[in-house]
Amino acid sequence: MKDLISLHDLSSEEIKELLELGLKLKNELKHGIPHPVLKGKTLGMIFTKSSTRTRVSFEVGMTQLGGYPLFLSSNDIQLGRGETIHDTAKVLERYLDGIMIRTYAHSDVLELAEEADIPVINALTDLLHPCQVLADLMTAYEHKGKLEGLKLAYIGDGNNMAHSLMYGCAKVGMDCAIAAPKGYECDAEVIANAKNDFKMSGSTLVLTDNPAEAIMNADIVYTDTWVSMGQEAEKAERQKIFMPYQVNKELFSKAKNDAVFMHCLPAYRGFEVTEDVIDGPQSVIFDEAENRLHAQKAVMATLMG
Ligand code: CP
Ligand code: NVA
Repeated sequence: MKDLISLHDLSSEEIKELLELGLKLKNELKHGIPHPVLKGKTLGMIFTKSSTRTRVSFEVGMTQLGGYPLFLSSNDIQLGRGETIHDTAKVLERYLDGIMIRTYAHSDVLELAEEADIPVINALTDLLHPCQVLADLMTAYEHKGKLEGLKLAYIGDGNNMAHSLMYGCAKVGMDCAIAAPKGYECDAEVIANAKNDFKMSGSTLVLTDNPAEAIMNADIVYTDTWVSMGQEAEKAERQKIFMPYQVNKELFSKAKNDAVFMHCLPAYRGFEVTEDVIDGPQSVIFDEAENRLHAQKAVMATLMG
């Protein structure tokens, strides 16, 4: 495992090991036990999109591991002015011990990982968001005491979150149901890859356009913004099309009684989710946000240690 680009690339065992290490690092942090396993190492963090959680959790995480996080906005580095990914990779690998990148085209991250001899971590592309799902699996485990056999229902856009959740569920043996409106379904190649992983783990994948069908019997109800970064021009149209997919009290009540509500954040109350659900007693959104820190520390320690 040189890079973290997609959960599909990892074995079930590798994912379990990352989650276990994340929980161990979380426990050590809570008890004031230092773990400077990346002392003297530097992580370059390339952002061509906005971020609150990802930037802060990687910067703090790298610091807690004894290393140095270097924020590289695409507005400031030559990549944003047309320098090639190849040259950027070849230069950065001479200075850094790892690269984290958040950008639009997934192919750019694949190219960076191919060209750079140092680990590359995908911190969100238009296609995938694996770091978020590692944190989500960790959160599900903490709240439910297991992963295998649980059912996750994702209601909304067939986007980067839906894709990575599908991969994550398949790898850990969780059932997954995704309800997305026609025309906004998940990527066909991701579905095909995930179906193979589901076959291997024995859990199931349901793809539907009916939110009530997807949410039935769910242990975890997940949604994400209807307007991802880069889709701002489609905002009005999307808000109209997705309204029947809003996770409100009525829809949420069709899940299991003890279901938890999850959202990667940032959330838009009154659109993909109502206040009574996201701010209600079954919401675990801030646990997920916190676990970004612990899960990503496990990723950095594993890839860069
Ligand atoms: N969930 C997530 O990735 O949040 P940010 O966009 O704030 O990093
Ligand atoms: N689907 C969202 C996730 C944000 C963390 C986006 O890509 O903007």
